Amino acid sequence: MTTTADQSLWLAALDAPRPPLTGEHTYDVAVVGGGITGLTTALLLKRRGLNVVVLEAGHVASGVSGNNTAKVTALQSTVYSMIRRTHGLAAAIDYATASLAAVAQVADLVKLEEISCDLRRAPAVTYAYTESEVRAVDHELIAARQVGLPVRGTVDVGLPFEVHAAVRLDDQIALHPVKYLQGLAQAIDGGGSRVCENSRVIDVTGHRLSTADGRVDAEKIVIATHYPTLDRGLYFARMELTRAYCIAARVATPPQSLAISTGSPSWSVAAHGDKLIVAGQSHPTGRPAVEPFRRLEDFARKHWQVEEITHRWSAQDPTSYDHLPMIGSYTPGSTTLFTATGYMKWGLTSGTFAASLLADLVTGKPNDLAERFSPHRLSVKSLPELVKKNAEVAVEFVGDRVLPADATSSENLPRDHAHVIRDGLGKTGVYRDDDGQLHAVSLRCTHLGCLVRFNAAERSWDCPCHGSRFDVDGAVLEGPATKPLPKRKPR
Ligand SMILES: Cc1cc2nc3c(=O)[nH]c(=O)nc-3n(C[C@H](O)[C@H](O)[C@H](O)COP(=O)(O)OP(=O)(O)OC[C@H]3O[C@@H](n4cnc5c(N)ncnc54)[C@H](O)[C@@H]3O)c2cc1C
Ligand code: FES
Repeated sequence: MTTTADQSLWLAALDAPRPPLTGEHTYDVAVVGGGITGLTTALLLKRRGLNVVVLEAGHVASGVSGNNTAKVTALQSTVYSMIRRTHGLAAAIDYATASLAAVAQVADLVKLEEISCDLRRAPAVTYAYTESEVRAVDHELIAARQVGLPVRGTVDVGLPFEVHAAVRLDDQIALHPVKYLQGLAQAIDGGGSRVCENSRVIDVTGHRLSTADGRVDAEKIVIATHYPTLDRGLYFARMELTRAYCIAARVATPPQSLAISTGSPSWSVAAHGDKLIVAGQSHPTGRPAVEPFRRLEDFARKHWQVEEITHRWSAQDPTSYDHLPMIGSYTPGSTTLFTATGYMKWGLTSGTFAASLLADLVTGKPNDLAERFSPHRLSVKSLPELVKKNAEVAVEFVGDRVLPADATSSENLPRDHAHVIRDGLGKTGVYRDDDGQLHAVSLRCTHLGCLVRFNAAERSWDCPCHGSRFDVDGAVLEGPATKPLPKRKPR
């Protein structure tokens, strides 16, 4: 009998956590968040001679950076045709230049810091799985050439099925992201800098950061929490979170390339050792997903001799309203507080170039990309999209009146199912677990009050407005919400 682990292929490599922050300390820079953005920024700053502390709520690499498909590449689906269309060719060239530099920087850091993370060079591929995707692939080939990437148009991409067209960029990187991030963390520790785990930052006031057991005063602060968690800057109104699902399967012949198709659904393929990784079934957080893991498994079995499905996991990543990452000062004009977010599921690359830009901003070094990626840029062409997104959120705010209740009691609720019941307090979400136990919570999201929806694939309550997620007992799984859903008495 085989069992499938409900966690990413990478997380098993997590080391024991470092001690949390206790007492009062002073550093040049405090970085909040131990994902690729926070750790790379901290290391680059340490290498410039600053004393840096990283405060991580859980384990380093336990966020999205440890829950992805682990491709570090400058070729990213159809990103260049999209940026060229939305912002013009100069912006697409900037994105390509930064991405190529990031791929090189990852390789450099692995070498300089002697990080053992299974790095291998591999071709990245954007392919047409169906005839209808050929046009998008052709456009990407033209855009990628215009921005200066050494790409080829070819159907020779090392996949065990026919592709109708493809763009190929050789010499990109596949690695073990948890091992890479732990290597970065090790390189930060020592010489006046350190990484603290189990150290959730609960308050940032001026130059002072507080955790449950400690405080830090820092001249500069970088918020690298994936989704900017401080209650300022209105990031939630300018980004959308998209969830996606991944499986790993033991197969006889794993693919060598890091491939992604352009259609909807898109099929992303990678490999690690004897494991095939398939990812996809993306949807805005809070919207229903129909059997995402089964669909990924069907795709894997259709094209490979699958011996065993070993892991399945999921994660989400934000996209800004104008489809460029947001990297820079947290609020307009701030010279002490910085952030980076909005990587559109390519943050191993863009989180790395974000770190280079943040290191320059923190140390006052001019950087040509600062304006391009400033969180406070105004993208006039994308304003209609911003208005539309916020209009959709406004509809969700009145969801209380339009979302029907399923039942008035949970007596007949089957195991491993959830439903919505109306009671005197409004809407209550009830889930019955595999042991028959009921778990009931208020459905009112504690961020700004939209109604959360049940995500059957992951047994969580997810918010369609700005992507917060809660477990069946109401605990926060992902922000922007920071407070749990109130528990209710099951009925
Ligand atoms: C399914 C999927 C597949 C992907 N595949 C790829 C890929 O192949 N290649 C690629 O380039 N990108 C990929 N990505 C995207 C990439 O993984 C992310 O963009 C990137 O890892 C984000 O890094 P981060 O450092 O910003 O966030 P995270 O890795 O999430 O790090 C943020 C950290 O902040 C911590 N934190 C949060 N709040 C606090 C607080 N208050 N105090 C202290 N710490 C806090 C969290 O615990 C977390 O560890 C994928 C994304 C998804 C969803
Ligand atoms: S209302 Fe903003 S995440 Fe739920």
